[in-house]
Amino acid sequence: MQVAVIGAGRVGGAVINELARNESIDYLGIMDRDLEKSRGLLADLINANPAYQKKLFTGPYEWAADADIVVLCAGIAQNKGQSREELINQNLKITTEILSQIKFKPSAKLIVVTNPVDTISLNAMRVSGLPPQQVVGFGGDLDTLRLKQILEHVSRLEHASGKEVKSFDANVKFIKSVNAHVIGGHGELAVSIYRDHPKDPNIGLSVREYAMAVIERNGATMFGPSAKIGELVDDIIHDKKRLHHVSYFNKDEKVFLTWPCIIGKVGVIKTVELSLNEDEKTELRKVIAHLKELDEKKIRPEFAKAVGKLTQKIDENTTKKTEVNLIDDVAKKKSIKVN
Ligand SMILES: NC(=O)c1ccc[n+]([C@@H]2O[C@H](COP(=O)([O-])OP(=O)(O)OC[C@H]3O[C@@H](n4cnc5c(N)ncnc54)[C@H](O)[C@@H]3O)[C@@H](O)[C@H]2O)c1
Repeated sequence: MQVAVIGAGRVGGAVINELARNESIDYLGIMDRDLEKSRGLLADLINANPAYQKKLFTGPYEWAADADIVVLCAGIAQNKGQSREELINQNLKITTEILSQIKFKPSAKLIVVTNPVDTISLNAMRVSGLPPQQVVGFGGDLDTLRLKQILEHVSRLEHASGKEVKSFDANVKFIKSVNAHVIGGHGELAVSIYRDHPKDPNIGLSVREYAMAVIERNGATMFGPSAKIGELVDDIIHDKKRLHHVSYFNKDEKVFLTWPCIIGKVGVIKTVELSLNEDEKTELRKVIAHLKELDEKKIRPEFAKAVGKLTQKIDENTTKKTEVNLIDDVAKKKSIKVN
């Protein structure tokens, strides 16, 4: 089993440290545009994981072609006060450039971590040429955990009579058992669904603003995402068919949408049905409309630029629909060059 992590930054470094101890991974590569940086990271990692030194390597992006699972963490990260969406132009460019250099194994799974996750995932599917079920955007698992932890915290405060202090075990049990999901999109586009607590807009807001609260104080989120990415990778490797909240390609809406899905060695096996109330449906519809608009205004134009060299001149009279098909076809040929 070979896994490649692309992006030797804060989250990529934490991910590779998490995966290094996974005994089912035989080769674990870290790739970055800055080779010296990834070599430095490796030198540190082999101290942390001496038993696994031999399986760790670094090299050019092309080497990810051998990987069964590729975790894409490269790109610009949010600064204080910046939204994920503000990264879209730069990260579409960066990830297109990286992914177009990799000839993926037909069975490879691609986990997209780079923000804004839902839009970068849609572009990544097109550029990689991988089938939709093999591309997942990471973020919903983390948002769902955050939602559950916020619910746990709120309920603890409400029951804090002075005497009743829940034990650590009770807290963990609560978080595991509470019925809550984040759907729609990662971060600012998160729609929080929960039934065991009265609806409170501050709860959903706290989920949306959670990462920024960390970034403002500590610069970046690392350990939360890397722990959940480690679980996702392990469940794919072992075909565990467990529930994960990921961004998946929704064939009806033609966007990547965060949703609870069953994940196994083929990637997304199926989605899980949720019964939503009218408010939740309205919120979700808004997110879908927004993701579609981003595809129209940002993703497709950037992708068209990237494949421009190959497509040469798209017929002036081409309708929007055929232009889209042409772009998709070119992506499948996997010979995109970006200058
Ligand atoms: N989905 C999630 O839950 C989640 C969680 C944390 C971070 N992220 C996202 O992951 C990405 C990386 O975050 P980070 O904190 O590790 O950032 P970072 O700045 O620490 O690392 C980014 C890495 O990308 C590399 N890179 C490769 N090509 C690049 C290019 N052309 N321009 C710039 N950098 C390039 C850099 O060299 C660097 O090693 C960001 O987009 C961030 O928003 C997502």
